[in-house]
Amino acid sequence: KDPKAAAQAASDMRNIVRRKLTGYVGFANLPNQWHRKSVRKGFNFNVMVVGESGLGKSTLINTLFNTSLYPPKERKPPSLDIIPKTVSIQSISADIEENGVRLRLTVVDTPGFGDFVNNDASWGPIVENIEQRFDAYLDAENKVNRMNIVDNRIHACVYFIQPTGHSLKPLDVEVMRRLHTKVNLIPVIAKADTLTDDEVMAFKQRILADIQYHNIQIFEGPRYELDDEETIAENNEIMSKVPFAVVGANYEVTTADGRKVRGRRYPWGVIEVDNEEHCDFVKLRQMLIRTHMEELKENTNNVLYENYRSDKLTAMGVAQDPSVFKEVNPAVKQEEERSLHEQKLQKMEMEMKMVFQQKVQEKESKLRQSEEELYARHKEMKDQLDRQRADLEEKKVRVESGKPMEEGKKITRGKFSLR
Ligand code: GTP
Repeated sequence: KDPKAAAQAASDMRNIVRRKLTGYVGFANLPNQWHRKSVRKGFNFNVMVVGESGLGKSTLINTLFNTSLYPPKERKPPSLDIIPKTVSIQSISADIEENGVRLRLTVVDTPGFGDFVNNDASWGPIVENIEQRFDAYLDAENKVNRMNIVDNRIHACVYFIQPTGHSLKPLDVEVMRRLHTKVNLIPVIAKADTLTDDEVMAFKQRILADIQYHNIQIFEGPRYELDDEETIAENNEIMSKVPFAVVGANYEVTTADGRKVRGRRYPWGVIEVDNEEHCDFVKLRQMLIRTHMEELKENTNNVLYENYRSDKLTAMGVAQDPSVFKEVNPAVKQEEERSLHEQKLQKMEMEMKMVFQQKVQEKESKLRQSEEELYARHKEMKDQLDRQRADLEEKKVRVESGKPMEEGKKITRGKFSLR
């Protein structure tokens, strides 16, 4: 982009002299230096598990890392006062070691997900947690001392799909759509031993079609350009199994031929967790731990976090690269905000006026109605009084003229006030 930098790079390329060394210099040892340093420092990996309760999340994590990271759970019947109202986020960390290599593993669980009658906001706390981790990293990067930043960002999110055999549920689609720009999404079909091989194949096709239809970006493995053919083939092999149909079991059972394996025993045989012919557990483990852990971390840092960071900084008015972002002028920004605010106020004022007019109209029509009723009653009473007066006048004339009153029409003087 920068013509000066491009010219400099071109000139550097021209000046490169290619020589074969005749003696030992030592930089061939660089990978070993790197290896020793990394091993001394140790590694960390943060994985989030999302899925409805009882889909085997804890079992799978224990099976993956061959450790009882999750202690066995005590299942109690639900009581109304202990049912949580929202999805909670719980994280467990453990230092595990294999052949002298230390790994700090953090598993972030999301208990309560999908447990409510209305799961509309189930993803809220999950997205919030992922963003908080990005924010904490951004804050740490902006501090004066950036030497030992602890990376608590989520490097992979294993999303558990219920083995319904149909297709993705609306909740799955909604959650994946909210998460895919923020984490490396790895969909897995939970408890795959409950489906037959054919059902798993068909279910996988439908899930992939749904994912494509809804433009959900799942983790796709490393870019190929720099890899050798063997690595590319290995990656293709792993990726061809997505969404991984997994089975979890962290205890050993004995097979019919006397082998001790991790698996689940059924009346008709044993499902072996570590057997690629039985499920995709091995491929998932290979991807998460053996081959793609660094790729997952790099993708989190270089793509997901970078996008989040630049969106956040741009929203705050920080211009990064003048050729990409326009300089944000504070005065212009303030003016924009003011006009937006004014528009909002005008809208509110109009709405209030309308409500006021409507209320006045209602009141007026009520008043008019009661006025008419009053007038009608008044008229009725007046008519009645007029009739009584006419009656009395007539009687008065009769009394004065000395004519006797008709029987039944005699009245006692004083009951009416005669004029
Ligand atoms: P919450 O902690 O409630 O979210 O549950 P969870 O998703 O962690 O499930 P958990 O690992 O506790 O497993 C729930 C039950 O499913 C247990 O009885 C497990 O033995 C069983 N289970 C776990 N994995 C599998 C599996 O792959 N297949 C089958 N059939 N059952 C499994």
